[in-house]
Formats: sequence, C-alpha cells, structure tokens
Amino acid sequence: MDAPILLDYLKQLEKQGIDHVEIDDHARSVLRELYTRGSARRPAKPNMVETSEQLQSNSIVAQGNTAAEKIASLANIAKTWQPARSLGSLRDTMVFSAGNPEADFMLVGEAPGFQEEQKCEPFVGPAGEKLNQILEAMGLAREKVYISNVCKFRPTTRNQTTNNRKPSPEEMATSLPFVKAEIDIVKPRVIVALGGSAAQGLLGSDKPVGQLRESWHQFQGIPLRVTYHPSYLLRQEDGLGEKLKVWEDMLAVMEKLSLPVSEKQRSYFKK
Ligand code: URA
Repeated sequence: MDAPILLDYLKQLEKQGIDHVEIDDHARSVLRELYTRGSARRPAKPNMVETSEQLQSNSIVAQGNTAAEKIASLANIAKTWQPARSLGSLRDTMVFSAGNPEADFMLVGEAPGFQEEQKCEPFVGPAGEKLNQILEAMGLAREKVYISNVCKFRPTTRNQTTNNRKPSPEEMATSLPFVKAEIDIVKPRVIVALGGSAAQGLLGSDKPVGQLRESWHQFQGIPLRVTYHPSYLLRQEDGLGEKLKVWEDMLAVMEKLSLPVSEKQRSYFKK
C-alpha cells in the first residue's frame, strides 16, 4: 500500500473511532519513512487515487484506461467516502451508476431508494420502470445511456423500512465530486437532471422544476435540461399534461442529440 493511501485509511479508521490497528512490517516501514521525512505528504503518482484532501478539492482521479475501468474505480472510492460517511445521515450501501460509460446521454436522478439499495443499481424500482418507458419512447435502451444519481447513498429516516427521503443539499454535496468526475469520464453530449433535487445538486438552484425546464442550462460545459422526476409522473392521477411536459423536454434532448424524431413520436401525449 502506498503511503498516502495508508495514511488516508488510518485517518478513516480514526474517524470511525478505531484507535488501535495491527500493522505489518511493510506498513511499519512506510510509516517509519514518513516519520523520518517529517512529512506526511508525498506527491501523488500520476494516475493514482488521490488523497482525501485532493478529493475534497473536487479532483477525484480515477484509475484505469477505459471509461468502464475509470467508473469502476470511482465507485470503489465512493464506497468508503468519508465526507459522506461522516455525515451519519446516509446509509452504508453505495449505489453508483448504471448503463454505458461512453454514452452520449446521461441522466442524473436524486438518490437510491429501497429497491435501488437492494439491487445496488439506480432506478430499478417503480421510478426506474417509468424511466425505462420514457427511454423506450425515445428509441433508446437503458443500457445505451448512462444513469447516475446526485447522491450515491440512500438517505436514512427514523425507523426506516421501505420509506425513502430526499437527500439534503449537504448530503448531495458529498457526492457531487463523483458526479463531476463521472461527467469528465463519460463525456456525454447532453445531461438531463431528473427532478428538483438533481437540478439543485447540479445547478445549485432551488427554483422549482417548472421554472427550470424548457431551456438549456450548462454543467461543466455540457448542455443540461431539467425535467420532472419519473416518481412525480407516477404520483399524478391524470398526468397527461405532466407527461406531455416531460415528453417535450425529451424531444428537445433528442433534437440536441440529432436523434431521428418520427411524426408519431412528435405527437405522443397530444390530445
Ligand atoms: N429515484 C432516484 O432519483 N434515483 C434512483 O436511483 C431511484 C429513484
């Protein structure tokens, strides 16, 4: 284990209240070397996972050559991510992302819920089914796009069973460096923020979705559209009007991606 990684690991244990660890000869010699040099810092090797200070400064460096390897490396770092863990308000299971790490189209939701946590995959419950239907209507398969969340852990509630809650801005902020790193790796041509939390987490705006949709925003230089969350559509009794709004947002996305739009698609949800 490299010195910065060993130190980070020990700091993490300390934060968890562990004040004694068994160390082997290699770890002992690494620590001795650090002690003799009188400094805990050593420049990171290129392409090496950075120390927590660097990570907090928003520059998570993933290991790997391909986009898939880099996303897997990010997910691995996220599992024990101290800024999220130390809040004490997020559950332990990390749910990272799904889909194609080289997709042109990236969708960002809120946070995993009960079903997502069980399967360790975003959008696999009822909201996920609705999202799959929307993608299908666009002529896209779920596997072709990249799906992520603005918070990588399910927020806790009192006496929690299957109930979920929205992540707070503070909780979302701890996952934001990962979302930014994912965007750098995936390099989508268009991003959609699904719902108010995702819009707030990414754009820092607490305006309602109704005011943020229908125009293009930018995130890390990439065109971003805000639309209603699929769960919101599920909650509408006669949601034709709301479905039409989401569909109009998706038509705008299809045009931006230069995807073919048929007459039939253009007239979906119109009476
Ligand atoms: N809602 C979200 O925003 N994300 C999920 O992964 C599941 C439900």
